[in-house]
Amino acid sequence: MLDETILKQHGQDHILEYCKMMSQSEKEQLHIDMDRIDLDEVDKLYEDVYVNRKMIEIADDVEQINYDIKENLPEEKLAEYRSLGLSAIKEGKFAVLLMAGGQGTRLGHKAPKGTFSFNDKSLFERQAEQLNKLFEETGTPIHWYIMTSDINHKDTLSFFLENNYFGYDESYIHFFKQDHVVALSTEGELVLDKDKHIMRTPNGNGGVFKSLEKANLLNEMKDNGVEYLFLNNIDNVLVKVLDSEFAGFIKEKDCDITTKSVQAYPDEKVGRIVSIDDKKQVLEYSELPEGEVNKLENANIGIHAFKLDFLIEAASKPLPYHLAIKNLKQIDEDFSVIEKETLKFELFYFDIFQYANSFATLQVDRKEEFSPLKNKEGKDSIETAQQDLETNQLL
Ligand code: UTP
Repeated sequence: MLDETILKQHGQDHILEYCKMMSQSEKEQLHIDMDRIDLDEVDKLYEDVYVNRKMIEIADDVEQINYDIKENLPEEKLAEYRSLGLSAIKEGKFAVLLMAGGQGTRLGHKAPKGTFSFNDKSLFERQAEQLNKLFEETGTPIHWYIMTSDINHKDTLSFFLENNYFGYDESYIHFFKQDHVVALSTEGELVLDKDKHIMRTPNGNGGVFKSLEKANLLNEMKDNGVEYLFLNNIDNVLVKVLDSEFAGFIKEKDCDITTKSVQAYPDEKVGRIVSIDDKKQVLEYSELPEGEVNKLENANIGIHAFKLDFLIEAASKPLPYHLAIKNLKQIDEDFSVIEKETLKFELFYFDIFQYANSFATLQVDRKEEFSPLKNKEGKDSIETAQQDLETNQLL
């Protein structure tokens, strides 16, 4: 039962108005949705993350992290990394995790972002191809974990099936879903999605750790002898998925977290990997002290490796929610489908950096390794991704 008094107390009694316009089965669905929701938690989320959101805080004592620059390393060192990396991959010490649960609202592609193709080759296929090549080189199949969300899980699975898993051994691909959290109107009201469910959206890429833990996948990796988990995004069209050079660098440094970065352009509005009180963080351009930003040379490109033992320890530690305001399809009071600015609550995977005791960074060449597909047009768009693929002869 939807209790009017309780709904009123939480400012959610508009739900009763929706109910009046619903068919019997829609009402039943709504009741099931509401039973899963803790309204106290919803109030807290709205208050903490939206109402009492802090004006952007400028961090103090931000310091440059220590890092190696690939370009400055002698060829013999790189060859040593490649050989060390290949041996470790051969021994099954690496697993790979692809974060592909995002909504891709800016790109506006109708299917999961990984299905977006350049020259008839999808982003999923481009990544699978690299892992297939590694298998050919080492003879060891790599466990490939792919995080999806409710909004794209089914379509992602069908796409892999239709494409015969891109020739990858299906038993080495592990799909798992991230968690979801309610989305709210700017007034803090629950929203109905276009299927008349209470809207829940993927809880951000930082949901990855708890979801791995919940599905017992971290323990499964441990049992399989995995020592490091390589993690990357779906939308960097130039990503080198577990290249042996980086694998060797990870192995040699043997840190809780090892990451790639690129040299940030002056005033570039990208997150910088920094150190504050010896803890590593990714700070947005807007969180950095004026005049400091260009001293911080490492832009985050979403390519990292985590020591598995570190993740097993840290996965259950708390991460903060961040606010994202996105245009999302929903039902209005007249039951027509509209697009409206909606509050989305997201965890960021890099907030786990604060728990790491050791951290290493390899700065690589942006032209060869970083071109994110975020937008339809302009910066980081279909056009720039196409050009960068062309320049790297990847089309
Ligand atoms: P973005 O932060 O660019 O978000 O994701 P997005 O949802 O793909 O795109 P927009 O902002 O709606 O346009 C960076 C990476 O994190 C993954 C994405 O799939 C991408 O690989 N991600 C993001 C998740 O896996 N889950 C999420 O909830 C959010």
